[in-house]
This record gives sequence, structure tokens and C-alpha cells, in this order.
Amino acid sequence: MCGIVGLVGRGAVAPRLLGALRRLEYRGYDSAGIATLMGGEIRRRRAAGKVDRLAERIAAEPLAGETGIGHTRWATHGAPCEMNAHPIATDRVAVVHNGIIENHRELREELESAGEAFHSQTDTEVIAVLLTRHLRGGMTPAEAVMATLSRLQGALAVAILFTGHDGMLICARRGSPLAIGFGDGEMSVGSDALALGAFTDRIAYLEEGDWAVVTRDGAWIHDASGHRVSRAERRIPAMGDGVGKGGHAHYMHKEIFEQPAVVGATLHSMINPATRRIDLGRYGFDAAGLETVTILACGTSFHAGMVAKYWLESIAGLPVHCEIASEFRYRRPPLGRGALVIAISQSGETADTLAAMRYAKSRGARTVAVVNVAESTIAREADAVLPTLAGAEIGVASTKAFTTQLVVLACLAIAFGRARGELDCKAERALVAALADTPDLITEALAGDAHAGGVAALLAGARDVLYLGRGTAYPLALEGALKLKEVSYVHAEGYAAGEMKHGPIALVDKEVPIVMIAPPDELFEKTASNMYEVMARGGQAILISDREQTDRFANGVAASIAMPEAPAISTPILYSVPMQLLAYHAGTRRGTEVDQPRNLAKSVTVE
Ligand code: F6R
Repeated sequence: MCGIVGLVGRGAVAPRLLGALRRLEYRGYDSAGIATLMGGEIRRRRAAGKVDRLAERIAAEPLAGETGIGHTRWATHGAPCEMNAHPIATDRVAVVHNGIIENHRELREELESAGEAFHSQTDTEVIAVLLTRHLRGGMTPAEAVMATLSRLQGALAVAILFTGHDGMLICARRGSPLAIGFGDGEMSVGSDALALGAFTDRIAYLEEGDWAVVTRDGAWIHDASGHRVSRAERRIPAMGDGVGKGGHAHYMHKEIFEQPAVVGATLHSMINPATRRIDLGRYGFDAAGLETVTILACGTSFHAGMVAKYWLESIAGLPVHCEIASEFRYRRPPLGRGALVIAISQSGETADTLAAMRYAKSRGARTVAVVNVAESTIAREADAVLPTLAGAEIGVASTKAFTTQLVVLACLAIAFGRARGELDCKAERALVAALADTPDLITEALAGDAHAGGVAALLAGARDVLYLGRGTAYPLALEGALKLKEVSYVHAEGYAAGEMKHGPIALVDKEVPIVMIAPPDELFEKTASNMYEVMARGGQAILISDREQTDRFANGVAASIAMPEAPAISTPILYSVPMQLLAYHAGTRRGTEVDQPRNLAKSVTVE
């Protein structure tokens, strides 16, 4: 989590660093800060809260300087207050850090007994203090960085300014992503391409263990053993417009509405237009010989994996284990060499998913990553990558990333089904044709935005909400409940509808809205029975189904959302839309910050 940025520029860098921090705010927004070098001296401004608070601070007390670093924080060690905001500085250095220094307690004790004073509760301060001691001892900045890095355990991406060294910063990457941007007479560093997109379209990702001295003239990159190395420079798409809200009140709303386009783009990337079949050829899978599939993911991506389990089992006849990565990684389960592991991650940086995937690789499993950020660590370390083409997702709650993950996973299930002889060519084409209509169906579902806004009033006023579904609607129930919790702070739980009688039905009374996700499939009547049971106990059912079923139950339910008729393969993708809209509108009705809900961050690089 946390976003870092640095710029060795021309003219005042603070306003430009503020702009980059706004782009990075999805990574954390507890506090923010900027330090610059001016006449060899480090100056800094920090503020608790969002980047806007920092901007106010800098407007009141402007910060000059042509070299600077910035940080937006998701607190791990120490409360989110100004004292703990980065840059963490001494008289010799200012440091911005993303990651966790695991041995910071031991180092702090050691440094305190050597007479050093600490002024924050952060783990990062040990980096600043170690650097300062080495500099006082006569080391150059580069020597001090190497010596300091050798003492640190854990994950880090850092950018450092040094007193007396205008026009230079040093950055390092170990475990947390960091890229270098090549500009016109200026250089930059940042946690991701989005941050650097403000400065340049030419970037290079540092590799594990790399560190670099960055000046206006270029970057001198070294590997962990100190050897000079070069890292491939690549072009990134212009990102100026991509991060605006495009007339929507929030990124979340904009991203929900981008789904017809990004679902379409992702589908087109997987369908061969000539044959109308799924084309995974370039990924080199031998699906026919597969024995099992293990899916690893966290949060919303885990829910996409759960939907994929239903698809891979029923369409491709493959046994699937879908695992929460944070549990899987420490359980150390056996994995046969015939196993395929699918890691699903929007950011491609989620610490638990990455660690679980690394464990699977170490046990000889083949790995495929379903990721949205193409240059992310998970994408780079997996044996194969199936990209979701959702584009930058800024809203912290995952929306379009989820539906594009579902698209990729549906295509994978179809391709595997075909390769394993579970589907013939005709059946494959029928499924592909059904999927191809999904963008239009999503557009139809989005026309219900205003209606969903009205229904959301029932959720916004509730203390607790239950979401129920069967089949692929069960993971959607989990996802709907997660989305409502995170953006509206209303307590919600998702259950398999068949589980109601085994406990959760005790919660039902007239105060508890129950969202029934019930596409009109072969399980519909069973879900409808569960809905009767709820209504018989005074529960307020909100039915999400097609027009025929919502009309049929119009008199019994508290509200309903009528969905377009859709083929079974696209219902999980389509029925995600009302889940997202209900959560969004419940959040805005309650006045929460839907794009940046409290305590959350977009990229969870700590476990
Ligand atoms: C919820 C949400 C999170 C993420 C989870 C995994 O809306 O966004 O639950 O899905 O943190 O993140 P990724 O997909 O980046 O690995």
C-alpha cells in the first residue's frame, strides 16, 4: 500500500508531485507529505488525511525546490497523524517508503541504545536513522543506501533525498513495485505507471533488489550486488484523460459505467474473430493433461475465483479448489506437478496472492495470472498471463476489474472445456456467442441506475443486510455484501441461499433487508422458496431477477430489480451490475466517501 513518487525536475516540483500523489491516492489516503531540496536543504510539508489537506498546507506555506519526493500513506506502523506522515526526515535525509520493515523493532532498539532519537512511530524511521549514521560516518549517499539496505528485512520501495545534493535522489525496490520515468531533461520515480503518467510516457520498472541514483541526466541502476544494470524502457499509454471522472460524480460510478466497453475489450482479446472460438494459443496451456486447478486470490478477486470454480467444474469437468491466498500460503498444502494454479488480482501486487503463487511455483505447479496491471509483480512472475483489460481502476472498490476477471475466467473455462473434450465445437461457439452479447446486456442493466438508487434507500437505512444466492449467484451474494460493507459501512453478509435454515434465518425480521440474487435458471424455484421463508418471517426481500419473475413476485417483495434476459454464462457478469449500483447508491446516500472508503487501500502490498 502507500504510494511514493519522486521528481528531479525543472522549476518548482511540489505542485506536480501533488498531482502525482492524487493519482496514487488509491493506494492509501491516511496522510500525505512532500519534501523538496532547496539550496541543499530539505524542506517538507505533511498533513494528516487526504492529499487535499496537504495541498491546503502547501498553499498556505508554499514549498520551492526542483527536486522532491512525495508520499500518500496507508498506515501500518503508527497512527495516521502528521507525526507519522512521510517523508520521514533527519537533518541529512528525507525518506518516502512503501512496504514494511519487518526487523524495525530490533533495529530501533539497537539504534536507541546507540543514542539515536526517534520522532515517529513508523518502521520507516529506522531507514532514515541508519542512513544518517552512515552519512555522518563519511559514506557517500550511494554507499549509505547500500549499507542501509543490507540491514533491512521485509518489503520496501523507497525514494530518498540527501541534504546538500540538489538535483539527485536515490530509490530502491525490494518487494514493493517501483518504476523510473524518463522525461525531457527531467527524471521521475513512482510506485506505478499511473503516477509517472503525469510526467512521461517512457518508464522502466526496477527489478527485485535494484537501486538507482537518479539525476536530471538519467538513472544509474544497480542490482542487489551493486553491479550497474539496465532495465528495459517501455512506453506507457497517455494517461491524462484516463484518470478523470468523465462527468460522473465518483470514479466508482464512472467505472461501473465503463463496463460495457471494458468487458467488450476483454472479450475481444480472447475471441478469435475468424473462428468465433476462444484463442489461448499464445499462452501455451496443455489443458487436456490437467488434473486439478487451484485458484488463489483475495477479496473481490476471490469471489471471481469462486464463480470460476462453478464454470471450470461444469464446463471443463475440472476439479477446482478456490483458496483465500492468505490462508493457502501458510497451510502449505501439497500440490501435484499436474496442478495448474490461477492467481487472480486486479493490482497484481497483493502480498498474500503473490506469496501464495510463489509457494505454488516452488512446489512445481504451473501458474497463470489473471491481472489488470500488466507490469505488476504477479504478472511478471507467473508462467503465463491472461490480462483483464479494465484499464486503470481508481475507485477503491473493485467493479470493472471484477467483471473483466469474470470474462477472462469464463473464456478460460470454455477453452479448457474444448481442450478436454467436454465441449464440441458447436457448444463452444454457442457459449462464445452468448458471451459476446454481454456488453449490450450490461448497457441495458445500467439503464436501471436511477431505479437502483431508489432501492438502495432500503439498504442505506438498515443496520444489517443479507445477500442470498445459489449456484454462481452465491459468490455474487458474497461480493454484493462485501461491496455494500466497504462503500456504505452498512453491515452485510452473503450466504448460499440453502444455508439460511442452518443459522442465518435467525437474523430475519422486518428490519433486515434481504437481497435475493435469483437469475431465472434451474435453481430459481429453490431460491424463491428461500425468499418465501424470509417473507413469512417479516423479512423485506429485494428480488433481483428477470422481468417475468419480478412481476410474479411484485406483491410480496419490498422491492425488485428487473434484469434483461441473459444466457446462463453471462448472468454472473450481468448480475454484478445491480450489486455495484446498490452499494454505490447506499454509500452516497449515507454520505460516505465511496471512492476512498475509510481504512481501505487499493493495492494491498502488506499481509
Ligand atoms: C474490494 C476489493 C478488494 C480486492 C482485494 C484483492 O472491492 O477491491 O477486496 O479485491 O484487495 O486485490 P487484488 O485484486 O488487487 O489482488
